[in-house]
Amino acid sequence: MKPKILVVYYSATGNVARLAHGLAKGAADTGADVRIRRVAETAPLEAIASNPRWSDYLSRDDLDEIASLDDVVWADGMAIGSPTRFGGPASQLKAFLDTTGGLWMQGALLTKVCTAFTSASTGHGGVESTVLAINNHCYHWGTLIMPLGYPDSHILKVTGNPYGSSFIARSGSTPDEDSLTAAHTQGARLATIVGDLLRGRRESEMT
Ligand SMILES: Cc1cc2nc3c(=O)[nH]c(=O)nc-3n(C[C@H](O)[C@H](O)[C@H](O)COP(=O)(O)O)c2cc1C
Repeated sequence: MKPKILVVYYSATGNVARLAHGLAKGAADTGADVRIRRVAETAPLEAIASNPRWSDYLSRDDLDEIASLDDVVWADGMAIGSPTRFGGPASQLKAFLDTTGGLWMQGALLTKVCTAFTSASTGHGGVESTVLAINNHCYHWGTLIMPLGYPDSHILKVTGNPYGSSFIARSGSTPDEDSLTAAHTQGARLATIVGDLLRGRRESEMT
């Protein structure tokens, strides 16, 4: 049984999207089934038009499919990402996560494992608070939370952030190989842990 991993994110200018693909590759490289989904844009057109990097990103023809609650139901594990916005996740991501009330009431999220990731423009501008705020949803859903931790020395080399992979976008830079390697590690670790849990559950059902 392959673990099913959903990577769901919001990105305005592409940085979190790039990290999302790094995580997805990490999960896929372990043999997991992976879906990558972005949440819908909800900002007014005039706000988008005020930032050329934002409007350019949204006009690309290779954007990922929009996330639905069916994707959430499908997944055994979820990696959830957002740019840091004033020290927390973007409202676009929260708007999507707030549609999970029905699933929460049914207890449909209790057996999943979640992990979070982000990008910000400064090292002290809120990457940790953003990951922790995304994780707040998981406490309510009852999911297990998987931090990135320090599974290999590479994490110390990048941001040294064990809460979740995070890219610091200085002067409009885009995620580099180091950040993508950390994201890959997080995705692989999520898929491996989910796979172990699924196997354990199946074995306990058979005994
Ligand atoms: C409205 C707004 C608020 C932001 N707030 C923060 C912040 O609190 N801390 C920070 O370091 N960067 C902040 N940023 C910068 C973004 O987090 C950063 O550019 C990020 O890499 C964007 O990711 P994306 O390309 O996936 O949209 C903010 C950007 C915007 C547009």
